[in-house]
Amino acid sequence: MIVKKKTVVITGASSGIGKATALHLDQLGFEVLAGVRRETDIRALADSASPRLRPLFLDVTEADSIAAAVEEVAGRTNGELFGLINNAGLSMNGPLELVKVSEIEKVFDVNVIGLLGITKAFIPLLRKGKGRLINISSGHGLLAIPDKSVYAASKFAVQAISDALRTELAPFGVSVSNLVVGKVDTAVLGKILAERDAMVEASDPDIVELYRPLFEFFDGEVKNMPGIPPTGVGETVAKALTSKKPKAEYLIGPGAKKMKNLARLPRGLRDRMMYQALYKGRKTEGSNT
Ligand SMILES: NC(=O)c1ccc[n+]([C@@H]2O[C@H](COP(=O)([O-])OP(=O)(O)OC[C@H]3O[C@@H](n4cnc5c(N)ncnc54)[C@H](OP(=O)(O)O)[C@@H]3O)[C@@H](O)[C@H]2O)c1
Repeated sequence: MIVKKKTVVITGASSGIGKATALHLDQLGFEVLAGVRRETDIRALADSASPRLRPLFLDVTEADSIAAAVEEVAGRTNGELFGLINNAGLSMNGPLELVKVSEIEKVFDVNVIGLLGITKAFIPLLRKGKGRLINISSGHGLLAIPDKSVYAASKFAVQAISDALRTELAPFGVSVSNLVVGKVDTAVLGKILAERDAMVEASDPDIVELYRPLFEFFDGEVKNMPGIPPTGVGETVAKALTSKKPKAEYLIGPGAKKMKNLARLPRGLRDRMMYQALYKGRKTEGSNT
């Protein structure tokens, strides 16, 4: 598949899924405007891309940065945009009792308010280009589990935004696809474990001990559960950008399909299954087991 030049903006292209997707779309012939926040990331991208790919300085939490990016894109494209891929995102694990409110705010600033701000700012260009909006969500946008209340809340919000905008923007020929992504092998997995260590370090050891089963279970998942390569997400983004009828939802990787199926189960059954998986054979505060 080779695409005649169409301009797409992707946020968070410095690493992981965003970088792999930017490079894949570049190879397919899209004019990629790749959102980055550091000079070093520009050089790394330029080394692996065609001269068509352009860096776009973009911090999704800064109104001035968003406004400057929109102005730059509008200037390059005659005010039209074919695709906006909202990929920038932060992860967060941890029992709510131990996470800092300032960290919760950061996750929501990037994953939710940043995504809304950038989308709102680019809607006029997408409308003019009859373009496509692609939101990178997660299996945790369908299924909220312990240790991920904050991250899941932010990705449920992404799901809600995709659902609402799909119909809101349909009259203008703008499609909206929500990509439900399972585990992907990116640097974020190392960040999750490092942040876990810092959280444990900063917390009361007696409280940490209460949540030990959660830590062991989810740290084991991060370390041992196989993920897919980030290029797998890039290939699905390309499908959503090139298919005649882009789907409302794409499930990417075995984890996403599993979470979609679990989310369909009755809530009581789901809770019991999760509880058994986490605490079976352990005696925990407040439990009868
Ligand atoms: N990896 C997974 O298993 C997985 C699974 C499901 C969904 N996802 C989602 O996929 C997306 C990408 O994750 P990833 O795994 O590729 O993680 P990653 O390698 O940590 O990449 C995150 C990207 O977001 C950017 N970013 C963070 N804050 C930003 C801000 N304020 N403004 C602009 N960009 C910002 C980062 O840029 P800097 O380098 O400048 O900080 C980086 O480019 C996220 O939305 C994540 O929730 C990941």
